[in-house]
Amino acid sequence: MLPAMSALAHALDLLRGRRVAVLTGAGCSTESGIPDYRGPGTAARARAPLEHRQFVGDPAARARYWARSVVGWPRIRATTPNAGHRALAELERAGVVARLVTQNVDSLHTRAGSRDVVELHGALARVQCLGCGEISARDALQARILAANPGFSDDGAAATTPDGDAAVERDLGGFVVPACEACDGVLMPDVVFFGGVVPRARVAACEAAVDAADALLVVGSSLAVFSGLRVVRHARKAGRPCVLVNLGPAMRGMEHFDAHVDARAGEALPALAAALIPTAPVRAAGSAR
Ligand SMILES: NC(=O)c1ccc[n+]([C@@H]2O[C@H](COP(=O)([O-])OP(=O)(O)OC[C@H]3O[C@@H](n4cnc5c(N)ncnc54)[C@H](O)[C@@H]3O)[C@@H](O)[C@H]2O)c1
Ligand SMILES: [Zn+2]
Repeated sequence: MLPAMSALAHALDLLRGRRVAVLTGAGCSTESGIPDYRGPGTAARARAPLEHRQFVGDPAARARYWARSVVGWPRIRATTPNAGHRALAELERAGVVARLVTQNVDSLHTRAGSRDVVELHGALARVQCLGCGEISARDALQARILAANPGFSDDGAAATTPDGDAAVERDLGGFVVPACEACDGVLMPDVVFFGGVVPRARVAACEAAVDAADALLVVGSSLAVFSGLRVVRHARKAGRPCVLVNLGPAMRGMEHFDAHVDARAGEALPALAAALIPTAPVRAAGSAR
């Protein structure tokens, strides 16, 4: 208890009076019921994550992805933001947090009210066409998939996985994957799979977030994924103080942090918000607004 308290006090010293850029990862959403990949209580992954080149090159892998996603998407959609997401949105409204960069694909920051959000790895709520580039809503595709595969729905047997799909193991022979309605092209979730490339503009938006801020707060990320680690390295190079709120140490980049609050995001972030948001100044009676 005591070390965590002093780490929180140290974090507050580093963040107080500064404009803060934020980088979040899967640990920010575990308290909303979405599992992470590399937390202390996380079971070893049962199967390798889908890789970008598999999705693009192998129709059977694509069918498996969408079949799992038909089950997994409604579950992700049904989750709600937790106290950590809400505290970050409040910090933005109060002018403490400038931009928020998230590695999550669950859109929970936006749903909690954060406005300036960079979705580094995209969002499951959107679908992109690899042919014509059109972006469409995942909900619309859900309806098309269900119409094309009558009888295929959640039988409750499959576990939700962190990728926002579900571990559907039944026979998928005959599963129909709809194509783009405009160009008949291959549809892909608007997310960056392993081995995929983060668009250059998004990397630039992350760097701009760090450059415009005076400090970086990282929440719930192992930093095992390079695009997240790169944000921390950029902040370090620019001389910004870096604070980590994470259960246990990150897998990489620990040397860049000035403070590590080893606590749940849903607990630590409301505490940070309460201490960092200046209470409204008391107005003298009769003074103009
Ligand atoms: N919710 C999502 O959208 C989601 C979920 C899983 C994975 N992913 C994707 O996979 C990659 C995973 O990398 P990552 O670094 O984001 O996650 P990660 O799973 O590699 O690491 C999560 C970290 O958060 C910590 N953690 C877990 N619960 C926490 C809590 N309540 N409070 C504070 N810390 C907590 C864990 O100890 C761990 O160190 C990302 O690139 C992301 O795109 C997304
Ligand atoms: Zn198309």
